[in-house]
Amino acid sequence: MKGVILAGGLGTRLFPLTKITNKHLLPVFDRPMIYYPIQTLVNAGITDIMIVTGGRKSGDFLSLLGNGKEFGLKHLNYTYQEGEGGIAEALGLCEHWAAGEPLTVVLGDNLIERNIKAAVEAFVAQGSGGKILLKEVHDPERFGVATMDKGRVVEIVEKPENPVSNLAVIGIYMYDARVFEIINSLEPSARGEFEITDVNNWYIKDGSLTADVLEGWWTDAGTFQSLHQAANLVAESGANHLD
Ligand code: DAU
Repeated sequence: MKGVILAGGLGTRLFPLTKITNKHLLPVFDRPMIYYPIQTLVNAGITDIMIVTGGRKSGDFLSLLGNGKEFGLKHLNYTYQEGEGGIAEALGLCEHWAAGEPLTVVLGDNLIERNIKAAVEAFVAQGSGGKILLKEVHDPERFGVATMDKGRVVEIVEKPENPVSNLAVIGIYMYDARVFEIINSLEPSARGEFEITDVNNWYIKDGSLTADVLEGWWTDAGTFQSLHQAANLVAESGANHLD
């Protein structure tokens, strides 16, 4: 199992904070945002990691993280996304490096409280397909939202105006090697992005997507409110909660 962290995009929702730096280098309580998704993967036992950066100050990732020694890693891989063509486009850049192995993908602005090791192990046991993680939220219209039927996800709608459930699809995804064929077959959405929700809906139609409900807190950190909330959650649950 390899791990991918998607830290591209321009972070326009956080202007002017992101006018001169990359969103994932901004502080969340006592460390840069990018530390959290790295620790999420390392805690799950995943040590072969690719970081997709982009936009401004991408070279600063190398200065900050180097070979990942602070996380007990020997090596980190980096690649660069030009523009912000979407989460699926950013993941598509990892095709050559993934070399047919299954992947756990974490969005660079997603923070969680607990360990996803059990979910990763369940996905490995599953053998093929994909796995997503869901979390009940009070503002589902901000996220990909799952439609459930008899305990299974039957559709995901990206940022629906009228959400049919309060189950958000969080930014941690597990995929088999077919994910790159799927990405290569996608058309851009109305907002001009290659959507990860389209990838997940492909696996749903294929009948090979499983979903677990995440335990513990989860937040993104891509808006002023959620960035503030992320810092509070980390501070309240102990600065070293991920160590
Ligand atoms: O946080 C979970 C949500 O993330 C999901 O519920 C949604 O289904 C999913 O589409 C995504 O929604 P957002 O609108 O919040 O995604 P955002 O554009 O903020 O991108 C999240 C991260 O993905 C960002 O921190 C870096 C990475 N990214 C994003 C884009 C658009 C890239 O690496 N490249 C990109 O082009």
